[in-house]
Amino acid sequence: MGRAFVYVILGGGVAAGYAALEFARRGGYSRGELCIISEETVAPYERPALSKGYLLPEGAARLPGFHTCVGANDELLTTKWYKEQGIELVLGTKVISADVRRKTLLTGTGETISYKTLIIATGAQALKLQEFGIQGSDASNICYLRNIDDADKLVSAMKSCPGGNAVVIGGGYIGMECAAALVTNKIRVTMVFPEKHCMGRLFTPKIAEFYENYYTSKGVTFVKGTVLTSFEKDTTGKVTAVILKDGRHLPADMVVVGIGIRANTSLFEGQLMMSMENGGIKVNGQLQTNDNSVYAVGDVAAFPIKLFDGDIRRLEHVDSARRTARHAVASILEPSKTRDIDYLPFFYSRVFTLSWQFYGDNVGEVVHFGDFTSSSPRFGAYWVNKGRIAGAFLEGGSREEYEAISIAVRRKAMVTNMGELEKQGLALAIQE
Ligand code: FDA
Ligand code: NAD
Repeated sequence: MGRAFVYVILGGGVAAGYAALEFARRGGYSRGELCIISEETVAPYERPALSKGYLLPEGAARLPGFHTCVGANDELLTTKWYKEQGIELVLGTKVISADVRRKTLLTGTGETISYKTLIIATGAQALKLQEFGIQGSDASNICYLRNIDDADKLVSAMKSCPGGNAVVIGGGYIGMECAAALVTNKIRVTMVFPEKHCMGRLFTPKIAEFYENYYTSKGVTFVKGTVLTSFEKDTTGKVTAVILKDGRHLPADMVVVGIGIRANTSLFEGQLMMSMENGGIKVNGQLQTNDNSVYAVGDVAAFPIKLFDGDIRRLEHVDSARRTARHAVASILEPSKTRDIDYLPFFYSRVFTLSWQFYGDNVGEVVHFGDFTSSSPRFGAYWVNKGRIAGAFLEGGSREEYEAISIAVRRKAMVTNMGELEKQGLALAIQE
């Protein structure tokens, strides 16, 4: 049993949706030549909605409202759209092995799908507590968050314990965004993570202090510098408490775990070149792997960042997924006209009424600026590396201000005096 396509997009997440739109806009295929294979049972959607709009107590976002590409204020690609465009959606189908030399994929249902050109967009999976030696994390009230099914489990866990206690494991993006959502759903939250402060991969201690104080004012308790060791459960197998390494017992009606991700590379290990350092599939500036019929985009791809002198990075953010996907399609359809990608890394988050953006790289010396104390905060930081702006963070900015900091990073604005930079703050970017 088998089918043959010219173009196959493996994975049906954010990158797949944006790649499909780019194919449709460029018109480089005929009906039935392009397919998306996805383990998920729905068409590609904007994953960031799962930790934000999807968890709202009222007026929550639901499909089809947040299929790609609405997150970039572009067309809403429903299943009807794919049909109209002649793009085959092979949903609810897991690819279990790949043969790059033969250009075939084998699905869990035993079908062999062949391609001339493959775009790998398999994203990533949440790390599980079992990998850290914690047993019993399959209880019905322990929630991870990567896909719609996870989000539905989280929503039903929240509904089952109004006014109850949640323990959030991990102080990264999932931990911070889910803690805010839990509070909004009137659930008491304790956050547990091993680092000295939240968002350790990006925030400075001063930036983290602001968010931790804000969360504390909303009733969140922080337990830092420790990890959980086990769970206490009732006779039905539900978690009732989280036990920490320092011996503390935290009562829990539900647990949310966000302890990082692993890129879904396993189908291609031993077949394609990997970036060991970044844990992803290594690609060039055209998003092409070492096999010239295979491209990789989104969370799974480790690609060169021109702005960082060609340094290879694997980014776990939606803007990168959207742009690498579009770029790969341009490279496939118009190779001679498509230059190497020149990407400016961009991360953001929205929690409660707060909202921040970050551009570039958080390396070098840090200078903070702005008002960290007001009830409508507007503050930020520059990272200065080798006398130039390498990264910039801003909370509470306007559209123009965010654009200004992004331009300052893109231009690698020169800094001669750190004291002066601190005094100028946002004005430096705006004057640029
Ligand atoms: P993505 O994970 O979206 O899609 C991968 C797809 O491949 C899935 O459909 C999966 O089922 C499928 N797949 C994998 N293996 C397969 C196989 N063997 N066979 C078939 N299908 C397979 N970023 C940001 O910048 N701002 C934000 O606010 C957020 N918020 C956010 C919230 C939540 C809850 C999550 C989980 C993530 C975010 N992100 C984010 C990160 C962002 O969503 C992420 O970077 C993109 O979804 C990556 O897009 P990809 O298409 O690469 O992977
Ligand atoms: P993360 O890498 O942001 O944070 C992982 C956190 O896990 C660390 O901060 C650490 O506190 C914690 N941790 C690690 N090991 C631990 C252990 N043994 N016990 C307790 N805590 C431990 O990953 P995440 O928060 O799980 O997010 C998953 C993915 O989703 C990431 O790719 C992220 O970029 C993406 N995401 C992004 C956004 C956004 O960009 N706004 C929002 C949500 C999710």
